[in-house]
Amino acid sequence: MFENTDDVLARLSEQGYIADKSVATVVYLATKLEKPVLVEGPAGVGKTELAKVTATALGRKLIRLQCYEGLDEAKALYEWEYSKQLLYTQILKEKFTEAMAGATSVRDAAERIGREDSVFFSERFIVPRPLLTAITSDEPVLLLVDEVDKSDPEFEAFLLEVLSDYQVSVPEVGTFDAKQKPVVFLTSNDAREMSDALKRRCLHLWIDFPDAEQEVKILESKVPGVDQRLAEDLVELMQGLRKLDLKKAPSISETLDWARALLALNATELDEGLVQDTLNVILKYEGDIRKAQGELGRLLVRKSVPQEGEGAVAGPAEPAADAPAKPATPAKPGEPAPAAKKGRLH
Ligand SMILES: Nc1ncnc2c1ncn2[C@@H]1O[C@H](COP(=O)(O)OP(=O)(O)OP(=O)(O)O)[C@@H](O)[C@H]1O
Ligand SMILES: [Mg+2]
Repeated sequence: MFENTDDVLARLSEQGYIADKSVATVVYLATKLEKPVLVEGPAGVGKTELAKVTATALGRKLIRLQCYEGLDEAKALYEWEYSKQLLYTQILKEKFTEAMAGATSVRDAAERIGREDSVFFSERFIVPRPLLTAITSDEPVLLLVDEVDKSDPEFEAFLLEVLSDYQVSVPEVGTFDAKQKPVVFLTSNDAREMSDALKRRCLHLWIDFPDAEQEVKILESKVPGVDQRLAEDLVELMQGLRKLDLKKAPSISETLDWARALLALNATELDEGLVQDTLNVILKYEGDIRKAQGELGRLLVRKSVPQEGEGAVAGPAEPAADAPAKPATPAKPGEPAPAAKKGRLH
């Protein structure tokens, strides 16, 4: 387990996960108090990843239950293995015939077969699904109930039972108590509000988009090899894009995808042409792309003073660095992207 919140921060960072103090505090308390954590926040901010890296940091196996509409107990808890039961009845046919020998009526024969029920409804014929696997595991595990908001409210109620007692009961077999209490993470994208009962049982963690400093650190950790200046410019632009009223704000995953795309294009600087050409890596709706294109001029404000060792900025002379910012002209949709211009964001 973790020693304190600093230990959480250090061990998550060893896995390439850059957390802040509030995240580390909740993770520490969850393990210390043995309480599930409900992690909420926009898409792509690292909710699922947090559970994965915590499992690795704790040396626990990750057991994942992916939720969706219509998910039921059979898929989440256990199922009877019908084909195996059938196979056993075929193999044991003779024994059944023996058991039924001397039966005086159909009812009597059924009674005699019924006495053998427990053979077929025993642990031998149970297919454990993630929840039962997590409860019955001999090794300590981390259970991730991912995107719990996509499941139905009935499933949420059932989950509550499991989470309150760390216990599962199979009517024909009995009750399974957790041998080792699993560390539990639930994630939600807010597709629907979680019940108060669930919230009450969990520690709550809201992960928002990171600030620029943290996002640069994440970028450096996840995409080594990206030039620091490029990373800073890229993050600054992402932070600006998130302030626009977009249908789907770009998240950390898009920042990482974009950095990888720019690396693949051997880009060392962020210029307007390059941004125009690669906007589709970070924005997934045509309307968002058009809106961002319209704002690029404002977002991509350049410094005019050439950096040491750089050539002059292309285009007409630009004002001094401390002069009011002059917006760059965005390319019109459909037009070829303008030639790469040098310049820094600020
Ligand atoms: N703090 C972080 N440190 C390092 N990498 C991060 C961090 N946050 C997010 N990432 C990276 O961002 C990507 C998206 O993360 P993840 O899939 O966990 O997001 P999510 O919040 O679960 O999204 P969704 O709601 O769409 O499932 C992953 O590649 C992950 O490694
Ligand atoms: Mg996720």
